[in-house]
Amino acid sequence: MYLGIDLGTSGLRALMTDAAGKPVASAEAQYDVQTPRPGWSEQDPSDWITALDQAMAQLQGSPGYSDICGIAVAGHMHGAVLLDGSDQVLRPCILWNDTRSAAEAAELDAAEKVRDLSGNIVFPGFTAPKLLWVQRHEPEIFANTAKVLLPAAYLNLHLTGRHVADMSDSAGTSWLDVGARDWSEQLLQAGHMRRDQMPDLVEGSAAAGTLRPELAVRWGFGTDVTVAGGAGDNAAAACGTGVMAPGQGFVSLGTSGVVLTARDGFRPDPATAVHTFCHAIPDRWYQMGVMLSATDCMNWLGRITGQSPADLTAGLGEELQPPGPVTFMPYLSGERTPHNSASLRGGFQGLSIATTAEDLARAVMEGVCYGLRDCLEALRKTGAEIDSCLVIGGGSKSAYWVKLLATILDLPLQLPKDGEFGAALGAARLARLAVTGDDPADVLTAPESAMTVAPDPQLRDGYEAGYAAFRRRAAELT
Ligand code: XUL
Repeated sequence: MYLGIDLGTSGLRALMTDAAGKPVASAEAQYDVQTPRPGWSEQDPSDWITALDQAMAQLQGSPGYSDICGIAVAGHMHGAVLLDGSDQVLRPCILWNDTRSAAEAAELDAAEKVRDLSGNIVFPGFTAPKLLWVQRHEPEIFANTAKVLLPAAYLNLHLTGRHVADMSDSAGTSWLDVGARDWSEQLLQAGHMRRDQMPDLVEGSAAAGTLRPELAVRWGFGTDVTVAGGAGDNAAAACGTGVMAPGQGFVSLGTSGVVLTARDGFRPDPATAVHTFCHAIPDRWYQMGVMLSATDCMNWLGRITGQSPADLTAGLGEELQPPGPVTFMPYLSGERTPHNSASLRGGFQGLSIATTAEDLARAVMEGVCYGLRDCLEALRKTGAEIDSCLVIGGGSKSAYWVKLLATILDLPLQLPKDGEFGAALGAARLARLAVTGDDPADVLTAPESAMTVAPDPQLRDGYEAGYAAFRRRAAELT
């Protein structure tokens, strides 16, 4: 039995699978994000530990529970947990969607060799600029920082007593030489950090340590439970969806939007604003375009109109319509790919006295799909080819949205059958690899597809023109 833990932004999910990787039980516990100031986003790491205990309590008694022999954690990326010399947390974790260190990010991004070695733009959400911000604004805390851990690595410490992080998550710090899969002296120096402040590195599918005896007793496990390196959440989702070879990919229509594809080599192209990170298995990388607000745009429209996203779109039916009269720019939280701007903002255009809430909802869906097309085009510029693509995330429950996405991306999309294929499953699979040493190709398989949604040939040209207009408008804004 294996346990995959998905340490998400709004809650923790623990998933048990049997020895063959079949999901058998799951549990969830929620926690909050604190926003003490606009643009700030923090969490108390002790809330993650409480949530983990709650989830484990729920799982106890599930058939096979006491046979769990491997655990792995997938975490929300880029967060900075600062620890003193006794592993005490010095301040709340600054999260991936916190933009306070935009100035520090721009400085680091302009520093010599930083993009080359890290393979990425230094985005404001990444870890290194956060530490420069702490140095400037909280110098005493900075001076006391003995270790900096990503959220998943903090749970690894809790589980094993060791400071150890996996490559895929560490790639999002701007301290890792992403091609060499090792901390970079030059990047650490640029970020005013030292190697001794970093955790040890392991591959996500390798053993990071053994579950601490105290937890093994408390949770009712044997004495020899392996904890794997784990992964950043997107790499874990790639493991859960079987995206590990070039040509394979997924589009996630979630709170944020992601277009991701696997690569068999390190082929960074920071100018595209695509992320190039280590995969959670050895000798593999992945690349992704990230849009910061995807279904979040629809949730926002729901909030301000007082209607649920499902009600807002109910009148559209399932039959795809041509581009609507209103257009929407989806930059409610700024944008990473392709614009790299924390200050960029969204907007509607083409409003008239006749515009309805449904027109706005249609425009939001279209604008989000155009943003994802931008991510796909940016990926293609790096030389990545995507010939088979899964669609996952909350928005994939809307048949209209998926049809629209397939047409705007001009790519057939596979909808997985209902079931598990997210970061928690990916983590459970990494736990299995760490215990068994199996070939990743045999374990990281694609979910069964329920159907393939093809682009609509009648509407393709109309949406192609819509995309060209979207790009012109985005160019005016940036
Ligand atoms: C990836 C990113 C997010 C977080 C939170 O670069 O910032 O996907 O991992 O899920």
